[in-house]
Amino acid sequence: MKSRSQLSRRRVLALTGAGAAVAAFPFVRPSFAQGGPLKVGLMLPYSGTYAQLGEAITRAIELYVKQKGGALAGRQITFVKLDDESEPPKGAENTTKLIEGEKVDVLIGTVHSGVAMAMAKIAREAGLPTINPNAGADVLTRALCAKNIFRTSFANGQVGLATGKAAAEAGIKTAVSFTWDYAAGKEMIAGFAEAFTAGGGKVLKEITIPFPTVEFQSALAEIANWQPEITHSFFSGGGAVKYIKDYAAAKLGIPLWGPGFLTDGVEAAVGAAGDGVKTVLHYADDVDNPENKAFRKDYTDAYKVPPDVFAVQGWDTMQLLEAGLKAVGGDVSKRDAMFAAMSTASFKSPRGPFDISAAHNPIQNFYLRELKGGKNVLIKTVATKFSDPGTGCKLAS
Ligand code: PHB
Repeated sequence: MKSRSQLSRRRVLALTGAGAAVAAFPFVRPSFAQGGPLKVGLMLPYSGTYAQLGEAITRAIELYVKQKGGALAGRQITFVKLDDESEPPKGAENTTKLIEGEKVDVLIGTVHSGVAMAMAKIAREAGLPTINPNAGADVLTRALCAKNIFRTSFANGQVGLATGKAAAEAGIKTAVSFTWDYAAGKEMIAGFAEAFTAGGGKVLKEITIPFPTVEFQSALAEIANWQPEITHSFFSGGGAVKYIKDYAAAKLGIPLWGPGFLTDGVEAAVGAAGDGVKTVLHYADDVDNPENKAFRKDYTDAYKVPPDVFAVQGWDTMQLLEAGLKAVGGDVSKRDAMFAAMSTASFKSPRGPFDISAAHNPIQNFYLRELKGGKNVLIKTVATKFSDPGTGCKLAS
């Protein structure tokens, strides 16, 4: 017997290949006055190098709603899923499919910064409640912040700054950064360089390769030539699995660091090759609070795999949505009141305390972790209630 999520996933994947990327559960939608369901569009990658990230986010979102008996603030929730394939050129059209074609009430997405920027442009015009459960493009909560767009993950620069700070505080003096050449990688290594340099470190070289290629060998040879004290890398999903394995096989003798996306969700796939990789992230498997313990148990019981940061971000997306829905009794047409409640939301997350900045980005703790025996073990808290500067955002708090 297939679970509902397995069935829906199969349909999304089947439909995507045929060019019809939207999979909806068939239903008749009565109006809100009749107590109709709230239609939530999930625009996420279900194929390509970030497929596992989209899956983890979706699982946590579905688990949250299931635990609430299928309804939030009195509204039944239905999902429409769209595989955005982490393809920026398709971002605008896919967003329009959900907003105009499917007439979703709420939009959730996405993972890839380039797709998220295309998506935000359309969502901002449409004005519907939109929550970004991963993509870190800095501008989304800086100069291009918007009243109706909220982020439950991080800004790329925010993670980079925390990682650079941790490396400098560990007494490291030289690094080479190596990443994918698009907003996420570039902004993470820029944040890293800023904080690492401020802490007395020096970035010897920044190397990039196109997203989502996984030809790492020539960069690894270049890193060997530079002989930095550490390599600092952002790769994620399927690309991170190959990178960590290739890096270990190259036997450079240079410790590998990165933002925690490098090791989250890939622990089992990389096995012993990942042991010793040090990363900084707004989550660690063993964050010690009751919310994390309950979340890890429930998620693992439901899906037979442990959760990762992406699942946590999906979970908190629903906490934020529920806070907004509760403020308006489930009536999303009361947009100003809903956004006001979301702008001041504060809740307990598996990651630790979650507050939201005036620019709609999480204010959160960052942790130094080390991958050991398949777990991202917390070494220490690097920054407490750390906020991205939100530079250029004109929203009132
Ligand atoms: C992004 O494109 O913003 C992105 C993608 C994957 C991650 C983190 C950030 O793990």
